[in-house]
Amino acid sequence: MTRLSGITPSGHAHAGNYLGAIRRWAREGAPGDLYFVSDLHAMTTPYHPQRLRAHTRELLAVLIASGIEPDQMFVQSDLIREVGALTWLLECTCAYGEAARMTQFKEKAGKDGKVTARLGLLTYPVLMAADILLQGADEVPVGDDQEQHVELARALARRFNGTFGEVFVVPRAVTPQAGARIRDLAHPDRKMDKSAGDVAGVIFLMDAPDLVRRKVKRAVTDSLDRLEYRPDDQPGLANLLEIVAACTGKSPREVADSFDSYGTLKDAAAEALIEELRPIRDTARTLLDDPSELDRVRADGAVRARERGTHRLQSALRLAGVG
Ligand code: AMP
Ligand code: TRP
Repeated sequence: MTRLSGITPSGHAHAGNYLGAIRRWAREGAPGDLYFVSDLHAMTTPYHPQRLRAHTRELLAVLIASGIEPDQMFVQSDLIREVGALTWLLECTCAYGEAARMTQFKEKAGKDGKVTARLGLLTYPVLMAADILLQGADEVPVGDDQEQHVELARALARRFNGTFGEVFVVPRAVTPQAGARIRDLAHPDRKMDKSAGDVAGVIFLMDAPDLVRRKVKRAVTDSLDRLEYRPDDQPGLANLLEIVAACTGKSPREVADSFDSYGTLKDAAAEALIEELRPIRDTARTLLDDPSELDRVRADGAVRARERGTHRLQSALRLAGVG
């Protein structure tokens, strides 16, 4: 069984990424799993090359620091020849309409999207299908915003197999049960996001403890002065309760029962986050300060992932009448 998931370096990694995805990968990962930094996916909207490179390294360091086995990770662009080639084969089995109706495309492309959006934004779910199908992944753990893309990968795998011959494993999305969905501390109506314009409410994994304290102290709550877990009516407060819950293994309701003021809850949320993230931040910092170790992990990961995937690409090219 192969489980595979990717994370896009579209900004600095934050507490939501860690509590909602990376920590789970580290805890639940089995030996055949693969996790990768999907840097090619960060190029579908305007971006800055040096920053992309730095965010990619940071994410790789965070994955290692989180305890995922180094032999289970790689950087997507190190396999650009393989995934690029497979993307083309899959694009030639995908209808324009299938790509154009993806919710994320419609949201990101905006109103005049058809005219100004990059083609890469339209075809990015096909690149994602190539990531998945190249490695023969059975299961793809993703947030619910990515389920539709995994459905597309399923459809393309079935279609290719049916048209040209059996080569791809048909993957399925696994969406984690009721995982932590961390909200922006300053805007609790939206999720914590790597590419948020205003970072006042985003706890980055590499933030120093004092900065974490300041951001949590300024977290938006409400004036109801009612310490209960009611996500719909008190989203800011519920977020703090969920953060403490995610860091301590308690339920948000239990956490609510153990505090009697918003202030003490905020202090506890800041300290819980700082302690939970400290080992990740410290180890990632050490790795980033010693590039040779990071380079070694990256190079080894690329070799292994390429070895695992190349035979599927070769078979697919042959069946498709090329290569
Ligand atoms: P993204 O940052 O949207 O590329 O997501 C990368 C991974 O982190 C996905 O598996 C998401 O489900 C997870 N993730 C992103 N933001 C959050 C958040 N605010 N809370 C929980 N999980 C998140
Ligand atoms: N598109 C995913 C995201 O933005 C990341 C990703 C890229 C991915 N390729 C993948 C996830 C393959 C799972 C499998 O979150």
